[in-house]
Amino acid sequence: MVSRVIPVDPFDLVIFGGTGDLARRKILPALFRRFLAGQIPEGSKIIGAARSELDDDAYRQLVAEALAEFHDGEMDQKCLTDFLRGLSYEQVDAVGEAGWDALAGHMRPDMVRAFYFSVGPSLFGALAERLQLHGMVDPDTRIVVEKPFGRDLETARALNQSLAVHFDESQIYRIDHYLGKETVQNLMAIRFGNMLFEPLWNSQYIDHIQITVAETVGVQGRGDYYDRSGATRDMVQNHLMQLLCLIAMEPPAKFDPDAVRDEKLKVIRALDPVEPQDIVRGQYLLAGDRAGYLEDVENSASTTESFVAMKLHVSNWRWAATPFYLRTGKRLKARASEIAVVFKETPHSIFDEDAGRHRNTLSIRLQPNEGIDLDVTIKEPGPGGMRLIDVPLDMTFSEALGPDSEAAADAYERLIMDVIRGNQTLFMRGDEVEAAWAWTDPIIQGWTERGDQPLAYDTGSSGPDDALALMHRDGRRWREIRE
Ligand code: BG6
Repeated sequence: MVSRVIPVDPFDLVIFGGTGDLARRKILPALFRRFLAGQIPEGSKIIGAARSELDDDAYRQLVAEALAEFHDGEMDQKCLTDFLRGLSYEQVDAVGEAGWDALAGHMRPDMVRAFYFSVGPSLFGALAERLQLHGMVDPDTRIVVEKPFGRDLETARALNQSLAVHFDESQIYRIDHYLGKETVQNLMAIRFGNMLFEPLWNSQYIDHIQITVAETVGVQGRGDYYDRSGATRDMVQNHLMQLLCLIAMEPPAKFDPDAVRDEKLKVIRALDPVEPQDIVRGQYLLAGDRAGYLEDVENSASTTESFVAMKLHVSNWRWAATPFYLRTGKRLKARASEIAVVFKETPHSIFDEDAGRHRNTLSIRLQPNEGIDLDVTIKEPGPGGMRLIDVPLDMTFSEALGPDSEAAADAYERLIMDVIRGNQTLFMRGDEVEAAWAWTDPIIQGWTERGDQPLAYDTGSSGPDDALALMHRDGRRWREIRE
């Protein structure tokens, strides 16, 4: 499988928060990989901007160290030196005036200009204002903002408004890195590139859909942020919501940013409020020498959830009778994320009773081992009558396409290059984010008002038992969480 690199014109990219964790872990390694792939053209400039007092060489050193730690591939010294040569640094005060004129001096006319706000949302407005004030905004300027995009509808609205003063919606790229994952985009390819699935993609044939994003990591190191957020704000409002949208949306007329985002928005707006009995929240417990949630966040009274499972209804013609079950949590038994589309059983079995009842399941694995499985029912080979078994038609991308395929590209690589290309399809529009908060807010408010306590679950488990019961009472069961 030959990877295809779509060329882009030289660009200027400024990373605010250029010395921070996200820049070191994700953004710079992603840019380096694109550089190695030959996609960063000669003449492009990458400028780190932050509060620290550094010169260009010290910044290059910092980036070299970050790449040594976070670049997972071979490190060719010559390529590294060439990449670092294209980097520079400006000390900038996000809320003051220092450094802005110098930063403006780097900008070149008639070039794509992107500003990555890899900083807390409280600085978004100040940065946007100063970019405008110092003449760095022209129609070809883009800004990239990270989550958390607000912590409720009100704060998200305020953020959208503060950006809208200086930028048109077509210039704002709100990142949800799940949209950059290869398999997530494949959801659209599978649904809208094959005749096979779309006719069956509705309540008449689909019994239910499960979305699981399970992690083995805890929240240590980010306890402060996490304890103010919880799994619902941190994962459901954004990542799981985006997955749900791509699974449930109507076919857009074109693969065009607004056509796709219009359809996603309709899904969010069609979500019913969730009843309290349809949600289970949990907190992971101490396990041996591994701290429990309360120790990790250093707040023994915390009622924030590190796990949530819920049953949702998308109230429209396509999905009226098909529930969606979502779950996500930390310190679970495996790092495994998948979407499982569970079809109904055949309406009538022509085989003996002991042939059993069978159903097809299409499972889309986001990570690890990205790929797609379709369970189909066949006759068990050999003599002994008509016994049926379910076998997976397996398409693991690294096997089917080769380990070097672009499928291995990190979500950030794809998304950053989409910013440069000016393609917003895989970014959240302001109204989408607000609609997602409008749906999430009452859920969280309900917990607060009722003084709801999360249930404890064992580290290394599948979450609280009540989450299993959420499915059992509907005569269904979660799929095994496994790598
Ligand atoms: C982030 C969340 O957005 O996504 C983290 O803030 C979470 O809590 C992470 O661990 C998961 O991302 P991935 O790509 O590892 O599934």
